[in-house]
Amino acid sequence: MAQEDVFKKLVSHCKEYGFVFPSSEIYDGLGAVYDYGQNGVELKNNIKQYWWQSMVLLHENIVGIDSAIFMHPTIWKASGHVDAFNDPLIDNRDSKKRYRADVLIEDQIAKYDEKINKEVAKAAKKFGDAFDEAQFRSTNARVLEHQAKRDALHQRYSDAMNAGPDLNELRQIILDEEIVCPISGTKNWTEVRQFNLMFSTEMGSTADGSMKVYLRPETAQGIFVNYLNVQKTGRMKIPFGIAQIGKAFRNEIVARQFIFRMREFEQMEMQFFVKPGTELEWFKKWKEIRLKWHKALGFGDDHYRYHDHEKLAHYANAATDIEFLMPFGFKEVEGIHSRTNFDLSQHEKFSGKNIKYFDPETNESYTPYVIETSIGVDRMFLSIMSASYKEEQLENGESRVVLKLPAALAPVKLAVMPLVKKDGLPEKAREIIDALKFHFNCQYDEKDSIGKRYRRQDAIGTPYCVTVDHQTLEDNCVTLRNRDTMQQERVAIADLDRLIADRVSITSLLKTL
Ligand code: GAP
Repeated sequence: MAQEDVFKKLVSHCKEYGFVFPSSEIYDGLGAVYDYGQNGVELKNNIKQYWWQSMVLLHENIVGIDSAIFMHPTIWKASGHVDAFNDPLIDNRDSKKRYRADVLIEDQIAKYDEKINKEVAKAAKKFGDAFDEAQFRSTNARVLEHQAKRDALHQRYSDAMNAGPDLNELRQIILDEEIVCPISGTKNWTEVRQFNLMFSTEMGSTADGSMKVYLRPETAQGIFVNYLNVQKTGRMKIPFGIAQIGKAFRNEIVARQFIFRMREFEQMEMQFFVKPGTELEWFKKWKEIRLKWHKALGFGDDHYRYHDHEKLAHYANAATDIEFLMPFGFKEVEGIHSRTNFDLSQHEKFSGKNIKYFDPETNESYTPYVIETSIGVDRMFLSIMSASYKEEQLENGESRVVLKLPAALAPVKLAVMPLVKKDGLPEKAREIIDALKFHFNCQYDEKDSIGKRYRRQDAIGTPYCVTVDHQTLEDNCVTLRNRDTMQQERVAIADLDRLIADRVSITSLLKTL
């Protein structure tokens, strides 16, 4: 199945099974804003727990905070967001639609790639086993022509972006490449303008001068401005980290690919404060720690890659993304940045407060350097859902849709099903739930045939199902079914907790780190 189709199916699966709903749906939705349903919220909470515990529980020198979404507006001046958190936008005069100029050009680059890939696929089909792809790519005239155009465009685009960006040049590229508006089909473009991504609102009464405040575009600044509070009250010694999970808001213009790019989303960020000069060593360590955290979920190492940044923000001296293989290619899920002492120094300058660290071992004061790990909860959710979604053909000719979620993250861990709705079986099933519900999330299900109930649980990724039958009333044993293997075994009710609890616990996952 084409990856595009897989993605469409995944989006409708998320809705059909209570994972993700479009926000305000009965009012026709709100662009790039989504709500999490009854299963989605469980999965999301489990992801957050996995992250939080791996940071705060497993590292004695990392503590958490929960800072407010509203912050003093000068914070965003100091951080550079007021002046530089912009996207270059262009309007089509005929359709009145607005686009990100950089995205229009990136899409054009992707079109050249598509043309090349089509030529390669055609030739591979024609020549079969004898096909030498590397040779074909380096000799075929049409491929070489597309490649040359692609490379020239890529170079021109990079130069334009690195020059500020150069807005006139971005517009000229769009005109030269004859890029048309997907709606009107015309090339009637306006100038390119910079557009700030922060949402703002007014705080206080408007009569006596209200204050313009922003909805935070990242959680990190809440950590920076509390750095000294935490360091002093927690008696933290460098190196140490502060972790935070919370909402962030960006007025994204190109909001697409479902929950990949949203206007309201959630971040899990950790700022690790280190002694100047040691930051690159820590950057390397955190790159490794974070990749290991991802890989522990068991989707396969081929699903991940680093993307080291060549062009660095002016305040960074190293940066990398952890990318995950989504149905639409490798995409950034997490950023790891060595941000030098930029943010703390800026806050020191703008607030006029001394926020230096006094190192008791060396008797010197300095502004710590910072390694940041920043991951989007929603992107992590999407990566997990897309790697877990499987359509399987079964031996009996039927098919099933199953979410092979890591058991520790699954919304429901155990479904308990009475074979029939009578003869005391429902009561026995509820007894089992009442004993186990303190340990993990259980669900009772008595409607439809057992086969249909299994399918429903497969579709939400429940790792275990238990069936209570008439025999259970006599021997206190049940049938335990495994989601992935579909194998069934007869086990004693008394053993259920021991058999399941470990396999579905976040603790077990953490122990693999
Ligand atoms: N404090 C650094 C920072 O915010 P970023 O690369 O802009 O860095 C970090 O964002 C992570 O937040 C990204 O890797 C991504 O997972 C998530 N993220 C950013 N913008 C997002 C959006 N519009 N929708 C969903 N997730 C987003």
